[in-house]
Amino acid sequence: MTQPLTPNSSTLPAMQQAVLAWFRQHARDLPWRTTRDPYHILVAEMMLQQTQVERVVPKYHAFLEALPTLSHLAEAATADVIRLWAGLGYNRRAVNLQRIARLIVSSSGGEFPRSVAALQQLPGIGAYTAGAIACFAFEQDVAFLDTNIRRVIRRAWVAPEDMPPPTPDRVLQQLGAELVPAGQGWHWNQAIMELGALLCTARAPTCWQCPLQPHCRSYAQWRTRDEQLFAAPDGMAYPRADQPPRRRAAERPETPFVGSNRYYRGRVVSLLRALPPDTHLPITQLGVQLKPTFAADTEQAWLERLLHGLHRDGLIVVADGAVRLPR
Ligand code: ADE
Repeated sequence: MTQPLTPNSSTLPAMQQAVLAWFRQHARDLPWRTTRDPYHILVAEMMLQQTQVERVVPKYHAFLEALPTLSHLAEAATADVIRLWAGLGYNRRAVNLQRIARLIVSSSGGEFPRSVAALQQLPGIGAYTAGAIACFAFEQDVAFLDTNIRRVIRRAWVAPEDMPPPTPDRVLQQLGAELVPAGQGWHWNQAIMELGALLCTARAPTCWQCPLQPHCRSYAQWRTRDEQLFAAPDGMAYPRADQPPRRRAAERPETPFVGSNRYYRGRVVSLLRALPPDTHLPITQLGVQLKPTFAADTEQAWLERLLHGLHRDGLIVVADGAVRLPR
């Protein structure tokens, strides 16, 4: 690495202003951007952890309509919370979300923790979600990394991702922290996420629309590479469409592969959701409902392991030869 991995201090304020101005003009109107209620932000961020924005929006509204406050969530039947999670996938998040609500209500009378360190102690909350809540609910100037933020920081301040080695999160986090404009963390982090979602996408970045273009290392490198091949006119779209940046590690798909463990876990929960409240399903009936070819003599042990895992995660209750959603 010839240049140090640090933002250029002489252009930093202009770069920050350009990004913030772009966000003011182009931000999508997303419901969690018009609130600072930590409960609403928590719900949004838990839903957004592994699910696309378009799918989250209607679920976010429905969830908050059914459970408008942290206390409503803490007091709800877990089965109802799991029902409200239908269509989002990764149901464990629903159980964690309720555990968080119950913990905050019981330990601090509903007073939300505010620091990243305290938020990270909550179940299912990692560095990203803790940072996002501290920033989006409490307007703290903190840096954190999600897929979009990682990609933008790596491209603009390190190198194109088709140039190995990959950059450790520790380095990206440090760089990210140097970029946040004082007093503007909320707008800055929303803006970088939005850039990653709308312009600096994994497959087809639209650099010619990007406020970071004059500051971006990847753009400069793609352009130099192209100029060695073509006499490229100014304003041309970079990177060239025939040289898309390679994708990094695949993200987890929202719809699991049919036949995977995750697929069958989701199927069990869906079957139980469809039953009237407080109804049990005998395990002897469950196998064939999961797969028509279910053979008890060879697959019973697999089924029991599957159910045991769901029980351990708090998603179902296995008792007396039957399963049900938790109360
Ligand atoms: N994904 C996770 N958090 C988000 C946010 N606040 N806005 C848009 N997408 C997000």
